[in-house]
Amino acid sequence: MGEVVRTSVEGAIGLIALDNPPVNAAGHDLRAGIVAALDRLADTPEVEVIALYGEGRSFIAGADIREFGKPPRDPWLPEVCNRIEGCGKPVISVLHGAALGGGLEVAIATHARVAIRGVQLGFPEVTLGVLPGAGGTQRGPRLAGVAAALDLITTSRRIGAEEALALGLVDRVTGGDPREVALAAARDVLDGRLATRRTKDIHIDPDPDSIERTRETLARTQAHLFSPHACVDAVELAAALPLEAGLARERALFQACIDSPQRAGLIHAFFAERAVAKIPEATAQPRPVTRIGVVGAGTMGAGIATACLLAGFPVVLAERSPEALARGEATVARNLDGAVTRGKMTAEARDAVRLATATDMAALGGCDLVIEAVFEEMAVKTAVLSEIARICPGAIIATNTSYLDLNVMAEALDAPANFVGLHFFSPAHVMRLVEVVVADGTAPEVVATGFALARRLGKVAVRSGVCDGFIGNRIMSAYRRAADIMALDGTPIEAIDAAVRGYGFAMGPFEMGDLAGLDIGWAARKRQAATRDPAARYHGALADRLCEAGWFGRKTGRGWYDHSGDTPVPNPDIPRFLKEIQEAEGLTPRLLRADEIVARYETAMIMEAARVVEEGIALRPIDVDAVFLFGYGFPRWKGGPMHQADVIGAGGLAARIERFASEDPGFWRVPGILRRMAREGGSFSDLNRER
Ligand code: 3HC
Ligand code: NAI
Repeated sequence: MGEVVRTSVEGAIGLIALDNPPVNAAGHDLRAGIVAALDRLADTPEVEVIALYGEGRSFIAGADIREFGKPPRDPWLPEVCNRIEGCGKPVISVLHGAALGGGLEVAIATHARVAIRGVQLGFPEVTLGVLPGAGGTQRGPRLAGVAAALDLITTSRRIGAEEALALGLVDRVTGGDPREVALAAARDVLDGRLATRRTKDIHIDPDPDSIERTRETLARTQAHLFSPHACVDAVELAAALPLEAGLARERALFQACIDSPQRAGLIHAFFAERAVAKIPEATAQPRPVTRIGVVGAGTMGAGIATACLLAGFPVVLAERSPEALARGEATVARNLDGAVTRGKMTAEARDAVRLATATDMAALGGCDLVIEAVFEEMAVKTAVLSEIARICPGAIIATNTSYLDLNVMAEALDAPANFVGLHFFSPAHVMRLVEVVVADGTAPEVVATGFALARRLGKVAVRSGVCDGFIGNRIMSAYRRAADIMALDGTPIEAIDAAVRGYGFAMGPFEMGDLAGLDIGWAARKRQAATRDPAARYHGALADRLCEAGWFGRKTGRGWYDHSGDTPVPNPDIPRFLKEIQEAEGLTPRLLRADEIVARYETAMIMEAARVVEEGIALRPIDVDAVFLFGYGFPRWKGGPMHQADVIGAGGLAARIERFASEDPGFWRVPGILRRMAREGGSFSDLNRER
């Protein structure tokens, strides 16, 4: 027996304790341990009932995700569940912490379940690109009915003990220590006070209406994904087949999910969210943050203040004029109301938020962390930063700048060690990404505080070095540029947007541009005009024409699209502008197919991402993936640009870049890291392990 599973006997009760920290994932040792423990207790004559419980934080958090895609090792989880269900003695389970995925499947294979309050139960498999493959799609509907099982399995919704009881997934809810609860429940089985039964014997009412409704919903909402649809097929089979036959079909569908590239992408995304926390500053002690200041109550400042209030922090919001402050306060109030409507916050919590507002920066006194979100202008920012430093000596001062050089800003401060970038994304109370930008002088505990704050805000922090645009915006500039050039060369903007949506983004670059406002990019192009690389083609000519006409996107009613009607239509003036530009530059219009558009867009993204990794701006390739997954709407099932780079392969990418270089040699250049990988082998995934 593996040491992660221990047995003990107390009178007629055989206990199986699971002890595989941190979360009792059902890896090989745990699986083998359960089977060996069952055999041993089944052969122990005095044992009349067996109780399974978890040590530590949880019962079982699911299959060991790290084993997916590797050669399977006996016993598989379905076999473990079948052995439990088939055991001649009653087997019960006690669920605490997490009983998720394979953990819940083990539980529903036992003959009765007791949930300890606070446990989360659910089937998160579709978030990982698989389906419950150890009987969840077959035993789940037997216990909870087809409709409830479909809901849990296709949405990954996590539920608590009481709801699980109401659904029939567990038989009893209680409080207490798992081992004590296991002993008490086992005694109740012996005394006939807790009934046991085999799930396989429960009859299912087929529910074709629920199956049909779920299929319709998924076709609308999850068309891109493979595994949710396979889940419905499997649940449908549960009602039609005896358990053994249903399990065999479930197994085949599970294997199809495992083999799908979406599974690899989604699991990469799962680990990306956790990998980014592994930073050199992880051992530094975060400073306490009890009161947060935000300067600037525009789009970002109001959103950041909302995020902090939602997490329960007292916030001081400072602006330069009463009018701007009133606008900001109204935005925060609207955001909080929205949070109440969406169930993110109770009305009582909203009414209790601690928000102070001021036009006098002195109100920031006493804040231990102040975030500036004023205009993106170096002079404005440095003036504000030194004012904050004067009012809040010793506080951590953070900038939300999108592009500006933190090392230059730090020169305005006497204590650059306290200065850091906290780059939120719009809308800041919704988007999960925060880039924690580390300047030359930033102290490790200040970086650690940025990460701790992001965690308290429910966000994903990614460490970035200083460069123009940091990790995300720098890479975005590259693929935006590729999109602009395709449009200049004659591919319609709506075709580019459609191709990018087809790739899996919620919006294409031109739709996104209209939403964010074209004036920001226009200002940046003017700022960069003097330093622009003369070897690279100028990509902004068409956008400049729109901006010169006063069309900044949705906020002016027109930009790339005309937004005056119910649905946006391409700006009717674009063909005329294009013709003039193409004639002036001697361009021959060229129409790209969707696959050609996507190849350029994706390759531009990967090309710049590779440089960001090569230069050490991102700690690892997986950090870049996290930035794009949590801040830029990159399709989760594709794992991120660096994961895609490995899917395509360095050789293929280098060949693509060389081919595109004939169109624009100043832009398309093979990064050294990619050239080396193409020549010597290796992958970005290898770098994730090394760094
Ligand atoms: N397999 C392997 N490692 C896992 C894991 C799993 N199922 N679940 C969590 N871990 C690891 C994490 O990667 C992390 O490792 P790290 O410290 O090296 O980064 C560590 O355990 C702690 O995890 P968290 O930081 O997420 O801890 P929290 O306390 O915040 O959350 C949790 C705990 C709620 C259990 C959360 O980890 C979680 O949701 N885990 C995923 C559960 C899941 O998806 N299970 C289904 C697996 S698929 C399956 O079972 C298929 C079956 O049908 C055949
Ligand atoms: P905004 O123009 O909506 O808001 C800026 C606010 O700062 C205004 O309300 C203005 O009155 C205020 N302000 C200016 N000078 C001030 C001063 N001296 N003291 C107090 N308040 C002052 O701009 P937005 O979009 O909120 O951007 C703010 C910062 O966030 C910029 O650095 C921007 O680059 C960055 N950012 C913007 C994102 C976006 O999507 N809009 C995303 C991420 C970062």
